[in-house]
Amino acid sequence: MLIETQKKKGKWKIQSKEKTPFGGFDFGFGFKYKVLMLVQLLMILCEQGCSSESGYDGVVITQADYQGLQAFKNELIDPKGYLRSWNDSGIGACSGGWVGIKCAKGQVIVIQLPWKILGGRITQKIVQFQALRKLSLHDNLITGSIPYTLGLLPNLRGVQLFNNRLSGSIPASLGQCPLLQTLDLSHNFLTGKIPPSLANSTKLYWVNLSYNSLQGPIPSELTRSSSLNVLSLQYNNLSGPLPSNLGKLSSIITLDLSHNFIKSSFPKSISRLSSLNTLNLESNYLVGDLPEDIGNLHNLSMLNLRRNRIEGRIPQSIGNLSTLNQLDLSFNDFSGEIPNSLSNLENLGFLNVSYNSLSGSVPTELSEKFNSSSFIGNLRLCGFSPSSPCPSEAPSPSIGISAEAKKARKLSIKDIILIAAGILLVIMLTLCCILLFCLIRKRSVSGQEKEGGVAAAGRASQAEKGGPSGGPEVETGETGGKLVHFDGPMVFTADDLLCATAEIMGKSTYGTVYKATLEDGSQVAVKRLREKITKGQKEFEAEVNMIGKIRHPNLLALRAYYLGPKGEKLLVFDYIPKGSLANFLHVREPDTRVHWPTRMRMIQGMARGLFHLHNNENIIHGNLTSSNVLIDDSISAQISDYGLSRLMTASAAANVIATAGALGYRAPELSKLKKANTKTDVYSLGVIILELLTGKSPGEALNGVDLPQWVASIVKEEWTNEVFDLELMKDASTIGDELLNTLKLGLHCVDPSPASRPEVQQVLQQLEEIRPTDTATTSGDDGGGDPSASD
Ligand SMILES: *[C@@H]1O[C@H](CO)[C@@H](O)[C@H](O)[C@H]1NC(C)=O
Ligand SMILES: *[C@@H]1O[C@H](CO)[C@@H](O)[C@H](O)[C@H]1NC(C)=O
Ligand SMILES: *[C@@H]1O[C@H](CO)[C@@H](O)[C@H](O)[C@H]1NC(C)=O
Ligand SMILES: *[C@@H]1O[C@H](CO)[C@@H](O)[C@H](O)[C@H]1NC(C)=O
Repeated sequence: MLIETQKKKGKWKIQSKEKTPFGGFDFGFGFKYKVLMLVQLLMILCEQGCSSESGYDGVVITQADYQGLQAFKNELIDPKGYLRSWNDSGIGACSGGWVGIKCAKGQVIVIQLPWKILGGRITQKIVQFQALRKLSLHDNLITGSIPYTLGLLPNLRGVQLFNNRLSGSIPASLGQCPLLQTLDLSHNFLTGKIPPSLANSTKLYWVNLSYNSLQGPIPSELTRSSSLNVLSLQYNNLSGPLPSNLGKLSSIITLDLSHNFIKSSFPKSISRLSSLNTLNLESNYLVGDLPEDIGNLHNLSMLNLRRNRIEGRIPQSIGNLSTLNQLDLSFNDFSGEIPNSLSNLENLGFLNVSYNSLSGSVPTELSEKFNSSSFIGNLRLCGFSPSSPCPSEAPSPSIGISAEAKKARKLSIKDIILIAAGILLVIMLTLCCILLFCLIRKRSVSGQEKEGGVAAAGRASQAEKGGPSGGPEVETGETGGKLVHFDGPMVFTADDLLCATAEIMGKSTYGTVYKATLEDGSQVAVKRLREKITKGQKEFEAEVNMIGKIRHPNLLALRAYYLGPKGEKLLVFDYIPKGSLANFLHVREPDTRVHWPTRMRMIQGMARGLFHLHNNENIIHGNLTSSNVLIDDSISAQISDYGLSRLMTASAAANVIATAGALGYRAPELSKLKKANTKTDVYSLGVIILELLTGKSPGEALNGVDLPQWVASIVKEEWTNEVFDLELMKDASTIGDELLNTLKLGLHCVDPSPASRPEVQQVLQQLEEIRPTDTATTSGDDGGGDPSASD
């Protein structure tokens, strides 16, 4: 049920409507209904915070937009009377009374009328809607041309006109829309060339012009669109050659140019498109060889080159495309043998190399997995069916061995290079970073003692304070430095620590973090706190001793601290090789995916850690970001940096809060309020949840709004499926509910009003409802690791 506020006869009136005024929209992926509920929820939430932004803000429609809508309706043919609600008064236009219309501040921002059997034309007067963001009229019977005035709409983001009967050419003016993201004009009768000016819309990420009659070459300007994810141009009359700089489409995931008349050699630069998932060039006139470096396309799952004139050998490197699922090379001129490497492709579910000039025997793994229809039409190919036995079934052993030897030699050369590179790296790192701690040490030692005695002295005085099992172990060196161990497996002296090889891992307002490798090879993370901003020694020790007692599977344990004679302060933590959640999510190998169960596990881990801090330790984190959450070996989240603000002077802590603001994790009220609280932590948690759902870093520029605002704005425009990380959408059919419910929860956490945000305990409960954890995960120390972490 939708609660709607409407201004009528000068009085505000609350109405309940049973029926939504915008039924039947397409969000794809089948969660139409749920998205509707979500949109309604958001609108209810919005009533306090951002009422003027909601689609039903009660502001009367502006004259220009009202006239525009009338002209729009007049030029359409509406046999079923769907637009009856667009009646003369105009009062309802911006309050939900007019079907398919949404407004903000009295201006139309969305026109959405798919599947309405609408005929007629789209009026040029569409230019009246200066605030229009989305025009969705797909699956109708609209004729005529696309009005060039569409290009004069500065806020236009989405144009969905597919499955109509539009003719004429694509207006070049569309390139003037600075915010245009999605352009789907597929399945129409469009002719002419693809306007090169489209490349001027720098936000374009989805272009589908397939199933038209477009001609001419693909404009090379289009390769400037570095934001483009999807380019679908199949089933047109495009001719060649292909732009030679296709390799510049650095974000492209789907490239479909099939069923055209493209005459070109196979574009070598395609090998640079490391995000490419689908490459379909079927039925064109491509010639020449496939480049060997096609094996660099680590994310490729579909490669279709069927019906071209490609010749030469099938590159060995195709065997490196570990995610490849479909490979169709049929009807080309490939010669030579099918490379053995194709047997490495564990995910290959479809193979067709039929009708080429391949020879030799089919690798056994392939002939076992695929039947003869994958291999027919290659006169000299054998061994793929009982009726095609190879002439000498037992190959001569010498050939077998030499092939093996060759392979071995190749591998070892590669290995040698890798090893050499590794050694070089280690040498460089060592040169750069060695003795960083020794520098501190020299300073401490200077004018006091010769080096030899320090370690021994340190060890002798070890455990002079503190109980043997219960409390922390304290070591006081003669230099005046003091090392305090909390429980934990680490045994090292102050000297070991200070002379460890160290490598900088990161810097923050608090100080610098090093990865330190101790003499015995073990590794620890050492945080060297900036000296001027920490509290005085006494207070510092009281606080740090408390933090050192905290133990929870989702909280990074503080193992020891060191106080130098000149006020240096080092904190020693477990070293977590996998690094931060931010890196895990945003800086990963191109061929790995972070699946939903893994992401959910992170969210639940963080919530449990935060709950422990808030409820059992009475600690506010104050600086929760995805860089402060680490991923341990069992792919669980470990929150770090908690309690550190207690070690700092008040002004330093405020500084950290300001930094968090710059990174996009800070609750809005903290710009006035200087002190973090449980609700500001929940806000930060919410931002990380959105980060995991969208795959976007909150620091990334998103049209000038922060991540929560961006998500809310997209959800509000019913593009919810576009919010989610594309990787997650692949499994949308099974996890759609969980994604939506988690999105709701995330948005709840980042509610602008602190009072409306849940406490972390409620967050935990809701997460448990969304995806119940098995007991192994709840205990937190499940060793197994998540098999779904990567492909
Ligand atoms: C306009 O249409 C709305 C919705 O169909 C209806 O409630 C209203 O009475 C109509 N107004 C006029 C003046 O016809
Ligand atoms: C582009 O549009 C066509 C026709 O509407 C559709 O079949 C195809 O799936 C679309 N491409 C993408 C990548 O969605
Ligand atoms: C071979 O496999 C394909 C798809 O896997 C199947 O459609 C076809 O019927 C099979 N043909 C024969 C001859 O077994
Ligand atoms: C491969 O392509 C040929 C030619 O079109 C076809 O006859 C055969 O069935 C295809 N095989 C598979 C497995 O699709």
